[in-house]
Amino acid sequence: MSYRIAPSILSADFANLQRDIEMINQSQADWFHVDVMDGVFVPNISFGMPVVKAVHGHAKKPLDVHLMIVDPDRYIKEFKACGAHVLTVHFEACTHLHRTLQAIRNEGMLAGVAINPHTPVSALTDILSDADLVLVMSVNPGFGGQSFIDNTYSKIQQLKTIREERKLSFLIEVDGGVNENNIGKLAHSGADVLVAGNAVFASANPSDTIAMLKSH
Ligand code: DX5
Ligand code: ZN
Repeated sequence: MSYRIAPSILSADFANLQRDIEMINQSQADWFHVDVMDGVFVPNISFGMPVVKAVHGHAKKPLDVHLMIVDPDRYIKEFKACGAHVLTVHFEACTHLHRTLQAIRNEGMLAGVAINPHTPVSALTDILSDADLVLVMSVNPGFGGQSFIDNTYSKIQQLKTIREERKLSFLIEVDGGVNENNIGKLAHSGADVLVAGNAVFASANPSDTIAMLKSH
């Protein structure tokens, strides 16, 4: 099975961020998952542009930037300048989602749309052809280290079916509570990109854990 692993630097040691970035560079990971939280859309503040830019300065793999912020349109150009390869916004945070995704693509980035656990896949029907990636939240956004929500499998299946029926090509990403116990089933269900924060950084050997997560 071929899928990407995107370790979430939210769970990295921020006092040793360069060390953790180098670990990901040397590992079998495919992308850096970068969680930006504003304390408004989600009840937590993570980090902003200066940190994303600093990560980009050392990262040798694409930055997969997940914006958990209100009104993300304000910062699309800035995140491009910070080195984002994928820029994902939340369905729940965008009044004019079509315009937002177009603006992301116009900056030369891949445009992602994320849905919270309570948002059905059907809400994306009219926007799927404008998205390069759909991020299915498998926890409520805001924090690392939470438990995986089982309803996610059904959402992956639905997205896969729609993608086949409509001959679309968006990637399906799953974010939250991914670990060695559920990654095999997630990959089998059709997930193309799997984010892992706590499972990687709380393990004794993060690089080996990434290799293990890749091998299902
Ligand atoms: C949650 C973030 C996730 C988080 C995943 O709001 O979007 O990317 O870092 O962390 P784990 O893998 O620990 O659930
Ligand atoms: Zn995320």
